Amino acid sequence: MRRLVFGIFSDYHLWRGSHPQSAAPLEEIVRRAHEGGASFLIHCGDLCHNAPDEPAVRTVLRENPFGMPVYGCLGNHELEDAGSLEAVLAAYGMPSPYYFTDRPEGFRVIVLDTNHGKGSDGALCHYPPYAKRLPDGDRLGGAQLDWLEEAVRTSPLPCLLFSHASLEEPAGSPDGARVRALIREENARRPGRVLLCANGHNHTDSLRLRDGVLWFDVNAALLLYWSRTINPGLPEDFRASARMAGNYAYASEPLSALVEIAEEADRWTIRVRGRESTYLFGAPPDPMGGDVPNGFGRLPSPRISSGAWDISKKPI
Ligand SMILES: [Fe+2]
Repeated sequence: MRRLVFGIFSDYHLWRGSHPQSAAPLEEIVRRAHEGGASFLIHCGDLCHNAPDEPAVRTVLRENPFGMPVYGCLGNHELEDAGSLEAVLAAYGMPSPYYFTDRPEGFRVIVLDTNHGKGSDGALCHYPPYAKRLPDGDRLGGAQLDWLEEAVRTSPLPCLLFSHASLEEPAGSPDGARVRALIREENARRPGRVLLCANGHNHTDSLRLRDGVLWFDVNAALLLYWSRTINPGLPEDFRASARMAGNYAYASEPLSALVEIAEEADRWTIRVRGRESTYLFGAPPDPMGGDVPNGFGRLPSPRISSGAWDISKKPI
């Protein structure tokens, strides 16, 4: 019977000079995953705005002291302050913008790239260097969708999907409908073929079981809410510590989760151990407009929730 434990986090947004945080909380996330028995750590994108120039990507993650593999998705901010997609891939040690790897624990880890939108000629393309979005964005695009269908349909292993933009209803990627149809079809035919879909980008917390898959909206590690409005609860010296320091509500401790997937004769059990925190300096996002739900009906919160879910192996 298979068993896997991995660590997960998202939207660290390391951007020295613009954001106030350092790499120390990232070290805490890596350590927590290792101490929780994780075989690997994965992030759901927007890790760093200028990865080729950020040593912590190598020193804290790729060359972590535990020898733990670290996977990750590209987020829409990954190219915001970086000169080329190739340089970002090299900094992260990614083989390509989307790929899968078959883990020795018996699971297929599928890393997706939701950073496609309409270019100036109207055709779908990847977000370019020094940009964080294109119109009609958050897309996988036709070629990646075809590749994903093949990767899931022919997989001998249960699949775990990771993306930056959500593939959930109602406000996820415009390509999410095709992914959800694929999951419904494959999970009806072979229950548990896709066990988990995790995403970042929304900076909100949610876990829900639907179509035999656990949808995990992974909250941001530290930067819980952004607004053009300055957060009035932050101390003045903190607000002055970096260019955009005043424009966020923060978590006091770095948020991450440990996910355990255990196979039994008749079911899969997925356990998520999240993390409860508080707003740094007791400064919530409400006065900055953070009291309005997003397109999923979710509000900012200083936590990643915990829970356990059973997925039956009986055909639906
Ligand atoms: Fe994002």
